[in-house]
Amino acid sequence: MSPDDLTPRKIVEKLDQYIIGQQEAKRAVAIALRNRWRRQNVSQEMGEEISPKNIIMIGPTGVGKTEIARRLAKLDNSPFIKVEASKFTEVGYVGRDVESMVRDLVELSIGMVKAEERDRVRTKAAELAEDRLLDILLPPKPVEKKVTDMIASGNGTTIEAEYVPEPDTTREKLRRLLHEGRLDTRFVEIETAEVRSGPMVEIFSSAGMEDMGLNVKDMLGNIFPQKKKKRRVKVPEALEILVDEEAQRLVDMDKVTKTAIERVEQSGIVFLDEIDKIVGGDGTHGPDVSREGVQRDLLPIVEGSTVNTRYGLVRTDHVLFIAAGAFSATKPSDLIPELQGRFPIRVELNSLGREEFIRILTEPHNALVKQYTEMMATEGVRITFTEDAIAAIAETATLVNDRMENIGARRLYTIMERLLDEISFEAPEMRGQEVVIDADYVAGELDEIVEDEDLSRYIL
Ligand SMILES: Nc1ncnc2c1ncn2[C@@H]1O[C@H](COP(=O)(O)OP(=O)(O)OP(=O)(O)O)[C@@H](O)[C@H]1O
Ligand SMILES: [Mg+2]
Repeated sequence: MSPDDLTPRKIVEKLDQYIIGQQEAKRAVAIALRNRWRRQNVSQEMGEEISPKNIIMIGPTGVGKTEIARRLAKLDNSPFIKVEASKFTEVGYVGRDVESMVRDLVELSIGMVKAEERDRVRTKAAELAEDRLLDILLPPKPVEKKVTDMIASGNGTTIEAEYVPEPDTTREKLRRLLHEGRLDTRFVEIETAEVRSGPMVEIFSSAGMEDMGLNVKDMLGNIFPQKKKKRRVKVPEALEILVDEEAQRLVDMDKVTKTAIERVEQSGIVFLDEIDKIVGGDGTHGPDVSREGVQRDLLPIVEGSTVNTRYGLVRTDHVLFIAAGAFSATKPSDLIPELQGRFPIRVELNSLGREEFIRILTEPHNALVKQYTEMMATEGVRITFTEDAIAAIAETATLVNDRMENIGARRLYTIMERLLDEISFEAPEMRGQEVVIDADYVAGELDEIVEDEDLSRYIL
């Protein structure tokens, strides 16, 4: 869908295909996304002034916070990255600056744009690759467009004659065979650039070099000439490798870099998960980095600053930040005031109950019931769920969530896995059978576990 058509209403409709309920949150992210489109369409002067309206999603675990953000990013192809805010407080991350998330986002965007560019040049690359393959299969004759020969004629004088070689019919014949797939079993030898990834390089590159915007792998790659490696492969694989190589060559990396950075700056989305974990607690005891310290580190990036990446400088002024957290013991107002101001929009997500679970099980494009049905179909086993079975599953999930920990829709995963344990194991021997999962079946598989609290603690 083109961005012009992504109205807030359309965005919500799209999100509805995957996430049940949580209308308020969907509305908020839809507006935020549309606002970015609007910003890109106002005068440049005004556009500079408009900052993104960052959002905090507040809600218990497993109710769709991450899912909403992820689906949103997919809608308009925005570079999207999910970061656990709490990881910056962990021991191992001391000194790992928060700017790394912008670098990761750029890296991701480069990957996206590169893939798009490759797709764009694919046809051209395929043509070139085919010619290269034909050259390998049938090495071209030494270049002699005109063959001049001296022919001795019968009467003693010499005549200069010109032979123009026939159009290369053998090559065209070979091309046809290739298209018809009749060379598919033949082997050819091709030279490919070896992927260099020694363990030594890995050690270097992980040790904080990225903070300087450097990439050791690239640097070393440039110092040492690329090694070529000969490989014997079948024709179709050879063609694939050659197409990749040609595509790589055709892609203009300078353009990719420029587009990718622009895309991050204009439409990047950073999803800051577990923002509540960097709230409160003075954190000066123990090994953790001060949580407030992390908030302060985050501030410049969220407020808009320039980050040095190995692809160049990246401005974060218009990157959209969506934060999420359960905020069970704390409140957004416990965040440092500067950060609160950068997240003007707060939306609450509701905890999920029986009714939502019924819909989550069946309605979304990727609904669990659909997933399991399709998976079992691959074994030739047809499973169907009756309505009261669905209700019973939803009921069980609600019950277990109430009695133990409320893990939201994630509970459905554990319950479904348990419920279908038997069938999942036996399916290959059940080919051709049909299994109807009704309320009795659900009761038979789950009741014993649900009634035994100790048991359910471990299994569900
Ligand atoms: N409202 C919903 N509709 C459909 N599926 C949902 C819904 N809420 C959660 N799910 C499913 O449950 C799983 C967990 O949801 P999600 O990752 O969004 O949780 P979360 O709210 O981010 O929780 P946490 O605070 O633990 O990160 C996802 O796989 C998602 O598909
Ligand atoms: Mg989450």
